[in-house]
Amino acid sequence: MDDFRKSTVYQIYVKSFCDSNGDGIGDLNGITKKLPYLKSLGVDYIWTTPFFVSPLNDNGYDVADYRAVDPLFGTMEDCEKMIAEADRLGMGFMFDMVFNHTSTHHEWFQKALNGDPKYMNYYIFRDGTDEGAPTNWVSKFGGSAWEYVPSLGKYYLHLFDVSQADLNWDNPEVRAELADIIRFWKGKGIKGFRFDVVNLISKPAVFENDYEGDGRRFYTDGPHVHEYLKGLAAEGGLDGYITVGEMSSTSLANCIRYTNPKEHELAMVFSFHHLKVDYKNGDKWALKAPDFDELRSLYKTWQEGMQEADGWNALFLNNHDQPRAISRFTNDTTYHKESAKVLAGLIHLMRGTPYIYQGEEIGITNAGFKDIDSYRDVESLNYYRILREAGKTEAEALEIIGERSRDNGRTPMQWDGTENAGFTTGTPWLGIPENHKTINVENEEQDPDSILAFYRKLVALRKEEPVISDGRIDFEVEVPYGVIAYTRSYEETQLFVWANLTGDEKTVRIPESGKLFLSNYGMEGDIPAGEVLLKPYELLVIKK
Ligand code: GLC
Ligand code: CA
Repeated sequence: MDDFRKSTVYQIYVKSFCDSNGDGIGDLNGITKKLPYLKSLGVDYIWTTPFFVSPLNDNGYDVADYRAVDPLFGTMEDCEKMIAEADRLGMGFMFDMVFNHTSTHHEWFQKALNGDPKYMNYYIFRDGTDEGAPTNWVSKFGGSAWEYVPSLGKYYLHLFDVSQADLNWDNPEVRAELADIIRFWKGKGIKGFRFDVVNLISKPAVFENDYEGDGRRFYTDGPHVHEYLKGLAAEGGLDGYITVGEMSSTSLANCIRYTNPKEHELAMVFSFHHLKVDYKNGDKWALKAPDFDELRSLYKTWQEGMQEADGWNALFLNNHDQPRAISRFTNDTTYHKESAKVLAGLIHLMRGTPYIYQGEEIGITNAGFKDIDSYRDVESLNYYRILREAGKTEAEALEIIGERSRDNGRTPMQWDGTENAGFTTGTPWLGIPENHKTINVENEEQDPDSILAFYRKLVALRKEEPVISDGRIDFEVEVPYGVIAYTRSYEETQLFVWANLTGDEKTVRIPESGKLFLSNYGMEGDIPAGEVLLKPYELLVIKK
């Protein structure tokens, strides 16, 4: 585990990273081509979103064959070349294992549909009730979580899209199949795994209606989840591998168990409470300005709570399911650079392993799409329909989708200022924000003060400074609204971190004089104790 404390992970959304053959879709050879760029960032691991054979209803999170590369993204030979080349450069791949469900195109599900009892028991088939579906649970992508199969007279469970059928982890044969897939990819030389929505794998013994919510309380961190993860780690031989579990609506107590090294389940977890502080009453599709008090209190709870019990967090504000943090929490125009840097500093100096999502290192913003035809994501398209049916006007529905769509995070990587941002020579599968003419890798490589340069520095500092990788963390609560402040301590060294997430000036107190360690306003020198005025979106880090 200790090995990951100094590491930084880079996340690639394969479809949008780099297209090597002009079909408008990112691919494995594109990744191989850009490995020197990733090396120049200093990252240790690269997490790639799924590129396995799939009908791509959910862009690869609907896997039809876990052991084969989808021809759209390349061949197994390309994949092996990509792994070998990363290895040569001293970086390791983490592949994305979608084990809560398979695509309905997977041969297991096809056999189940033909009534083969062995494979029906790989999934969750149930009889209906007088009201119809077995329970009233709601799919995370909208609509019922059950789909009726007339030829079988039964329903199957799909917590996500109707084309993503949930696997039955209570069946030991399923668990054995999945461990075998892990061993297969380990055999190809990858160094770690990301496990998709892995805290949803253990369903309750009895399925009942949820009269308080959408059903998630019955299957989130379910009854046997810890046992199954221990089994997967043991059978898959995951000791020494970097593993991260994506935990949907989880709890601190469970995340401690998932990641405490004595439990042998996972190295670290993604939790999402901090990315719901702008959901109105917990509803992603109801807009609210971010509540920074809530954000601070969540960081305090999770950072200090995991520390007390020897758990380990993955640190992130962006991924392929989230709108861009720079647009969502800060100011992506007037204070573009300051905003990108304050958010980066805020999380990279915390206790945990930071993840950089492609494009955040140059400050890519939300997509800014103006019409529903620009969107591709199944969730966005479903919810656009649901919002319209619920009576929202087209403009209202578009505003909500514009803020919340996962496509905001999926627009192609901005390599240069040319028409398709250097991503493809063809037509990109998803539109590219206009501002790529200025916000792009090529531009930032020329600027020693760029966001990109700042990220390189943060990645390097984690390796150089034990106070960042191993220090303890304590949050400061006596700070003005919109400021998040914490102290890291290791032996005699201390780092004091302040992040002003607002466009207003804020007064904070520096407890002890020290040296300026990091800033996004280009200051230097000694900083005396006492009051100081933080500028808009200022990051101030002092070392003692
Ligand atoms: C995870 C993935 C997301 C996907 C979902 C279903 O949340 O990150 O992209 O749609 O799981 O697999
Ligand atoms: Ca391609």
